[in-house]
Amino acid sequence: MIKPNVTSHEKNGLSIYTLINEYGLSIEVLNLGGIICSINTPDRNGIFKDIVLGFKDPKHYLGEHPYFGAIVGRFANRIAHGKFTLEGKEYSLAQNNGTNHLHGGLSGFDKVFWEVEPLENENGIQLSYTSKDGEEGYPGNLSVTVDYVLTDDNTLQVKYQAQTNKTTVINLTQHSYFNLSGDFSKQILDHELELNADNYLPIDNTQIPVGNYQSVVGTPFDFSTPKTIGRDIEDKNKQLEIGSGYDHCWVINNPNNEIVKAAEVYHPQSGRTMDVYTDQPGMQLYTANFMDNTLPSKTGGTYGPRSGFCLETQHFPNAPNEPSFPTTILNPGETFTSETWFQFSVK
Ligand code: GLA
Repeated sequence: MIKPNVTSHEKNGLSIYTLINEYGLSIEVLNLGGIICSINTPDRNGIFKDIVLGFKDPKHYLGEHPYFGAIVGRFANRIAHGKFTLEGKEYSLAQNNGTNHLHGGLSGFDKVFWEVEPLENENGIQLSYTSKDGEEGYPGNLSVTVDYVLTDDNTLQVKYQAQTNKTTVINLTQHSYFNLSGDFSKQILDHELELNADNYLPIDNTQIPVGNYQSVVGTPFDFSTPKTIGRDIEDKNKQLEIGSGYDHCWVINNPNNEIVKAAEVYHPQSGRTMDVYTDQPGMQLYTANFMDNTLPSKTGGTYGPRSGFCLETQHFPNAPNEPSFPTTILNPGETFTSETWFQFSVK
């Protein structure tokens, strides 16, 4: 039996932390961006494979990549035209996705260096970062911690906390791309997905939610009972055309803002299963539609479209400009908290 522990080593100027539990499940995390650069889990025959996309050589994470494994903030997903108003003052952010602001801007939480400390009472680490007032255009000194805890029931718990000294907006997520086959030359279309969501947020041509909730019934967005990600992904559907596949936020059925099971993914061939629990209102499913075979894969070759999927638990995109959405405002004296668990098993 392997003793639960946390170790660290340096490579190419980056620190890599390894968490391992008593079943041998292991996770590697970088101080850069809090990037999860590997998750090794067994299939139904006990064969361990790395199930998250990323790079073999960590130095590649210093270059351009689509948020592989990173913590995303201060505001995950899009803010229309990079503008919002708080307490009568308009703030302007980088327009780094067409005319919209995406994933916290040009140097978001995915690109900064985090302080990392082992946790005292749990098998895990705490990452800390203080974003200065005005950084990427956002108001307030924002102190953020993210805990990664690996439990002995094979769950990665991600726990976020933040405090500010000026009223601001916040929306944090984890941007891991999963492929439960562990073979990144394979597409994820055969993975069976179930989402605990009766509604999703339809988007405009620039991928900003139009504001209403849309029932998933009778649409390709219905994952309320398990179906393969690929079954309807090529349907003739305006929303799928805009995203070039799934790149939408589902409204998780969670009237009491508790930690609920929001998603279950099953890869029939390997038996690997991942359940996602969260207290967040939204879940962005992104099927790596814009991956274009330019980045080298850990298992050889390059990453192509649909070589991974992200389940980004979060508040709703563009919430600062959409009063009907749950608020993303954080005031001085308050503590933002959010929690998401990824539980790995086999069937
Ligand atoms: C999110 C967005 C996508 C894309 C990816 C990163 O999932 O919704 O449109 O920007 O991040 O490539």
